[in-house]
This record gives sequence, structure tokens and C-alpha cells, in this order.
Amino acid sequence: MNESLITALQEQANYELFAAHSYDAIAYWCEANDYHGFASFFFDQAEEEREHSKKFFTHLMDRGIDPILTEIGKPQAEFESIPELALKARTMEKSNTDQIIGCYQIARDTSEIRSIPFLLEFVEEQVEEESWTAKLITLTDRAQCAGALYTLDRHIMQEMSDES
Ligand SMILES: [Fe+2]
Ligand SMILES: [Fe+2]
Repeated sequence: MNESLITALQEQANYELFAAHSYDAIAYWCEANDYHGFASFFFDQAEEEREHSKKFFTHLMDRGIDPILTEIGKPQAEFESIPELALKARTMEKSNTDQIIGCYQIARDTSEIRSIPFLLEFVEEQVEEESWTAKLITLTDRAQCAGALYTLDRHIMQEMSDES
């Protein structure tokens, strides 16, 4: 397997773990600030990111490469507001998309055809990921007062159930 693709896939697998760590930090912030609905939503996102990481490592192993887990950076843990969390999620998902497209481009340019279907699945997944962040931004922007935010918190899992 091409060395630059191996490096890119190892980095991506570790980046997915960082995304999980970041969503956990967001979820704990929600929990600490009594937004239990948002907390559940973000804990679920963290779980999904861990599954993504596992898929990348499994793909590497399927192709005969041992996974290399690196240190995970400290995630942002302080936030001002719920809308800020939605913006943070969008920023994270957008950079994740860029990195996955980068992996795809390396696979294409090095003719690593056997990794392309795997990567295209993630390109598609990222379209969905960016879509839920957009919806979350809309919903949280609309909840202008404390009461509206409280109601949104109670219903957020249901509101987002088709999206993520
Ligand atoms: Fe992911
Ligand atoms: Fe994601």
C-alpha cells in the first residue's frame, strides 16, 4: 500500500478519535450546564466518531497495515452558548470533510483503487454530517430566549433523529 496513503489513513483514524473526544467535551459541557438533551445528542455523535475511527483502522488492517494510535489533543471544553456549539460542530465537520477528501485524492493519485470505495463512503457520510450541523445551527439560532432553548433541549434528539 502506498506510504502516503497509509500515513493519511492513520492520521484520519486518529482525527476521528479527536472528533469523538471533542464531542465528548461538548456533551459534558451541556450536561454541566443542564442541557441534557443536547448532551445526549453530542454523546451519540462522539460514539459515531469512534465507530468511524474503527472503520479506518479496520480498513488499514484489512490491507495488511497495523494501526498506529497517537496522542489525542486536548479538546475545547469552554463555551459561551448553545449556538456556539453548533458552529463548533460545523467547523469540525468541515475540516473532517477536507481531510477525507484529501485521503481520497491521495488514493486516486496513487492508483490505490482498493481504498477508493471505502473512502467514497466517507465522502458521502460527510455530506450528511455537514447537513446535520447546518440544521443544528438553524434550530439553535432560532431559539433566542431561555425558554425556547429549554424546549429545544427537551426535543433535540427527536428534531435531529433523521439527520445524524
Ligand atoms: Fe467522523
Ligand atoms: Fe462527524
